[in-house]
Amino acid sequence: MSYSPRPAVLRLPSATIFALFFLPLLLPSARSQLINTTIISNKTYSTYTFPSFYSVNNNTNLLLLKDADHSQGALQLTPDSRNQISFLLNKSGRVFFTTPFRLWEDRLSPSDNTTKYVASFNASFNINVFRSEGTIPGEGLAFLIASIPEAPPPGSEHGYLGLTNATLDANPDNRFVAVEFDTVKQEYDPNDNHVGLDINSVNSTVTANLSFLIAPVNATIYTVWVDYDGVSRHMWVHMAIVGDPKPSAAVLSSPLDLSDYLTQYSYFGFSASTGTNYELNCVLSWNLTVEMIPDDKSRMPTWKLAVIVSSGVLAVMIVLAALLVGLYVRRRKVGDGPSAVVLGMLKSLPGTPREFEFKVLNKATNNFDEKMKLGKGGFGEVYKGMLPGENKAVAVKKFSRANSRQDDFLKELTIINRLRHKHLVPLVGWCHTNGMLLLVYDYMPNGSLDQHLFEGPDMPILNWERRYNVITGVASALHYLHDEYEQRVVHRDLKASNIMLDANFNARLGDFGLARALETDRTSYAEMELGGVPGTMGYIAPECFHTGKATCESDVFGFGAVVLEVVCGRRPRSDIAGFKFLSDWVWKLHREGRVLESVDPRLEGDYVPADAERLLLLGLACSHPSPGERPKMQTVVQIVSRAVAPPAVPHFKPAFVWPSGPVEEGDAGPSSRLTSTSSAVMSSYYASSAEGTSQYLSQEGQVGPRDTSISTV
Ligand SMILES: *[C@@H]1O[C@H](CO)[C@@H](O)[C@H](O)[C@H]1NC(C)=O
Ligand SMILES: *[C@@H]1O[C@H](CO)[C@@H](O)[C@H](O)[C@H]1NC(C)=O
Ligand SMILES: *[C@@H]1O[C@H](CO)[C@@H](O)[C@H](O)[C@H]1NC(C)=O
Ligand SMILES: *[C@@H]1O[C@H](CO)[C@@H](O)[C@H](O)[C@H]1NC(C)=O
Ligand SMILES: *[C@@H]1O[C@H](CO)[C@@H](O)[C@H](O)[C@H]1NC(C)=O
Ligand SMILES: *[C@@H]1O[C@H](CO)[C@@H](O)[C@H](O)[C@H]1NC(C)=O
Ligand SMILES: *[C@@H]1O[C@H](CO)[C@@H](O)[C@H](O)[C@H]1NC(C)=O
Ligand SMILES: *[C@@H]1O[C@H](CO)[C@@H](O)[C@H](O)[C@H]1NC(C)=O
Ligand SMILES: *[C@@H]1O[C@H](CO)[C@@H](O)[C@H](O)[C@H]1NC(C)=O
Ligand SMILES: *[C@@H]1O[C@H](CO)[C@@H](O)[C@H](O)[C@H]1NC(C)=O
Ligand SMILES: *[C@@H]1O[C@H](CO)[C@@H](O)[C@H](O)[C@H]1NC(C)=O
Repeated sequence: MSYSPRPAVLRLPSATIFALFFLPLLLPSARSQLINTTIISNKTYSTYTFPSFYSVNNNTNLLLLKDADHSQGALQLTPDSRNQISFLLNKSGRVFFTTPFRLWEDRLSPSDNTTKYVASFNASFNINVFRSEGTIPGEGLAFLIASIPEAPPPGSEHGYLGLTNATLDANPDNRFVAVEFDTVKQEYDPNDNHVGLDINSVNSTVTANLSFLIAPVNATIYTVWVDYDGVSRHMWVHMAIVGDPKPSAAVLSSPLDLSDYLTQYSYFGFSASTGTNYELNCVLSWNLTVEMIPDDKSRMPTWKLAVIVSSGVLAVMIVLAALLVGLYVRRRKVGDGPSAVVLGMLKSLPGTPREFEFKVLNKATNNFDEKMKLGKGGFGEVYKGMLPGENKAVAVKKFSRANSRQDDFLKELTIINRLRHKHLVPLVGWCHTNGMLLLVYDYMPNGSLDQHLFEGPDMPILNWERRYNVITGVASALHYLHDEYEQRVVHRDLKASNIMLDANFNARLGDFGLARALETDRTSYAEMELGGVPGTMGYIAPECFHTGKATCESDVFGFGAVVLEVVCGRRPRSDIAGFKFLSDWVWKLHREGRVLESVDPRLEGDYVPADAERLLLLGLACSHPSPGERPKMQTVVQIVSRAVAPPAVPHFKPAFVWPSGPVEEGDAGPSSRLTSTSSAVMSSYYASSAEGTSQYLSQEGQVGPRDTSISTV
């Protein structure tokens, strides 16, 4: 069974096309979907549209999770088959729009008690719940608003619609609100063809029988309108056969206060499942208009509003151009605090980190109590905190050195915050007072990877499955930063202490993009080595000492160091069997055909030998001294997922040569030009004593151009 939806035709006025050209510069993750921003009686609405889903870019404009995918211009929340019915059964999938929206805020009323202000929205979408004649449909599709853009939990197939599972159902921590179109009757359902309002549970709060058949035998496309009024706290659902006008009567109407169930920033999307019976759960097009709630203290300046209102899209373009010019001009001034332009940009976009008041963070961390301290990172100290009033655990990073280039930093932040990936630590917000800078991240209950590898006997040993899983996660996050996000982002500071573990021991990369953001004129790789930042040695690619420049290839080097570290349970800079670096020792064992002897003895042999060998070879390939010979992250991801064989690794570690020649596609050919050591200054770094190394570093390490870690590709 394979189904071609009728794609809606995209018709845009030419001014809109111009706007589309400019807007992506400011709204990376909303690329080409933001159609317009309108202002109606003081309220700003942004409209996003997917006339079809031909140009879906996973992780960029949409997140396609678990069994969800897109094909033939439609979102297939559960798989479309290739004539294989077994492939359609027991599936669940979710899709989210990558940009979160601020759905409510606390406002002080005149009587001085806080009231919640809740945003309104209108969503409309075309769905096709297709089944072949003679089959019974299963299970249903839902429009979903969730606080976390997570994959459907395990066990969310069958009647759980990809929303919950037997354990999680009705748990208030689920934090979602959904409108279900259910085609199977469960004990708590009225019938097998109804619409329902689901709050943290598939046992709907309100249901209504439908006169439409959701999945009729003759495939029918329906348009659904989900309208929400934040002032009256009410939701309406309308439904019609595509092409028909919106009917006046709603199929479902219910009071609903989103702020009771969702966190301030939440995500819009869809969810669906199949069970022992199946159907196709397709979404063919989607319009979403959401009222924008600006951050509390930074409403858009009125002059800007006036311009936008008075001259429409053309004016928007002019404003944007002005912003860009302003940004360019301001960027060149250094030192006098964040510019209004950049701050304005940060605050007026949805989903940007919120600015915290210092006193809030001070309270959250109990005056930065030593007892709340989680550790010391590359740039400062990290404290655990509980956000007052939100009951949300966060990690607050307090930077040790005041940064003179606020504009660069904030600009970077607008990009960092738009990066959404399940293996990146989400940034919650920031605070900047009196030259002091704090970043607020989601709290990661399991700390950092290095703690699990090296800390004390009381810490249970990280088992093989988790280790492999961590490497898979880090690889997918780096691949995303390098290749999948529309602006190439170089992490620059990959190491075990920057890899956090969430509650399920999944890897979450932290501090991405920050190294450059926080760079001052004095910060360089050399200083990172010498200035007492622990644990950096061994992660930095040799060419970096020449160029001072981080690249995707140097990130791959750091990744290789992490892979070896995880498999061997030793730090990259380890004195072992006469070697100073773990990779040199592993390379020797590889040469001698006994590479598996490097596997962490604390695993007591409890690992998968083929996988361990795969990872060790991969780690060595990534540690190649010549940047162009290292695999690209895309290849790395394929190797880790066992889709392709591990790379061939030469028996002797090639010497480092500088200059290394142009970086080319890593097809790892014979490395004849790598055998010369005449200019191999850096081989001293890898072979010499620590003393010689520091001498080298202090002379050479600080020179070299600074790169743009985030460059538009
Ligand atoms: C913006 O989009 C909405 C929804 O498509 C539409 O109703 C409105 O007229 C548009 N406004 C402008 C100024 O184009
Ligand atoms: C609209 O804005 C004006 C001026 O900022 C303000 O006085 C008024 O209360 C606002 N009205 C609403 C409905 O928010
Ligand atoms: C989309 O990306 C996520 C990871 O961010 C991955 O789990 C999922 O399988 C991808 N979906 C598709 C269809 O590629
Ligand atoms: C689907 O799930 C049901 C019940 O959990 C099970 O009996 C059935 O074997 C599963 N079918 C497939 C194809 O996985
Ligand atoms: C909030 O203010 C209203 C009057 O405006 C009052 O009736 C109500 O009791 C107050 N609520 C709280 C929680 O103080
Ligand atoms: C989305 O908006 C466009 C333009 O206003 C309209 O032509 C289209 O029918 C809408 N699609 C849906 C699913 O509401
Ligand atoms: C439901 O999901 C949670 C979280 O992913 C998981 O821990 C639990 O085992 C799942 N329950 C079932 C019955 O699959
Ligand atoms: C909904 O449909 C079921 C059976 O299809 C029926 O028993 C029930 O009375 C209906 N409910 C309403 C409110 O019409
Ligand atoms: C469904 O929810 C209602 C209350 O909303 C409750 O009485 C009922 O027991 C629930 N049913 C199941 C199967 O959870
Ligand atoms: C589907 O079939 C029913 C009855 O057979 C008919 O009333 C309906 O109009 C058909 N729908 C479409 C979209 O052809
Ligand atoms: C948007 O939702 C409101 C309810 O909040 C409704 O009155 C309005 O008609 C909807 N607009 C559209 C274009 O559907």
